[in-house]
Amino acid sequence: MTESSNNPASYAILSPRSFDRFSQFITRELGIKMPPEKLPMLQSRLQRRLRQIKLDSLEDYQNYLFDLPETAAEWTEFINLVTTNKTDFFREPSHFDFLVRNALPAMALSSRSPWHFKLWCAGCSSGEEPYTLAMVLNDYKSSNPQFDFSILATDISTRVLDHARNAIYDEARIEPVPMEMRRRYLMRGKDRQQPRVRIVPELREKLRFGRLNFMSADYGIGETFDVIFFRNVMIYFDKSTQFRVLQRFCQHLKRGGYLFVGHAESLVGFDLPIKMVASSTFVKL
Ligand SMILES: C[S@@+](CC[C@H](N)C(=O)[O-])C[C@H]1O[C@@H](n2cnc3c(N)ncnc32)[C@H](O)[C@@H]1O
Repeated sequence: MTESSNNPASYAILSPRSFDRFSQFITRELGIKMPPEKLPMLQSRLQRRLRQIKLDSLEDYQNYLFDLPETAAEWTEFINLVTTNKTDFFREPSHFDFLVRNALPAMALSSRSPWHFKLWCAGCSSGEEPYTLAMVLNDYKSSNPQFDFSILATDISTRVLDHARNAIYDEARIEPVPMEMRRRYLMRGKDRQQPRVRIVPELREKLRFGRLNFMSADYGIGETFDVIFFRNVMIYFDKSTQFRVLQRFCQHLKRGGYLFVGHAESLVGFDLPIKMVASSTFVKL
């Protein structure tokens, strides 16, 4: 007998009606589009959760979930499982080059000395992106003694935030990190069976992690930033949600500050106080 035939949850079917109910919730609360072609993906992720909590049917799970207050822990689990968290160290690397070679020198001209540079990594997933930023910013700091920095890194998923706070990665994940940065910024674990690395404390202390939903009425962030990285998140949102969230980011960006979005994301047609200066890179007017 196969594992799936032993376990009803592995073939629990998500009916179109139940899918609609989930999908409306996901779009309303998280901004994430859930067109019908996502049904198989949602079904297989929910089946995994059903196995963990030992329920037999997705209808049972839905009734259980929708009866809970939205503060219940199962809602957090549900959000963890519906978000897509794909990320990498040095993903879309031209942005990091642009930051160091163009954006920082341009901003340095109008900054006070000493300069405390603030960056928001919005939708940071499991931390590879903000730690990449910490590596390149720390290198910049080494040759610019008047410069220091801090990074706010936020996501909606508690699962990826826990991973990011731990800052421990399988060695296979660090392949894009340049060798001499690995030497300075990564510590090797002792387990040879499962080789892992941890980000050094010197970088970890530059980051603050927080849970934030871009759909919230109040972000609870009182500060403005020199740079915002908001990459590969709005691709999951519809146009009107993208626009609303981008307007909020513009309010949190200093004049002359930079906004980076993913290479597959377009801001064409949005009336925002920013201008494009390089591929998926914008400066606040
Ligand atoms: C594909 S990852 C991108 C990670 C990283 N920025 C990168 O480019 O590698 C998208 C992240 O956005 C987060 N996300 C999705 N909807 C969100 C929302 N409404 N509020 C906050 N974060 C959200 C997901 O949890 C996920 O970790």
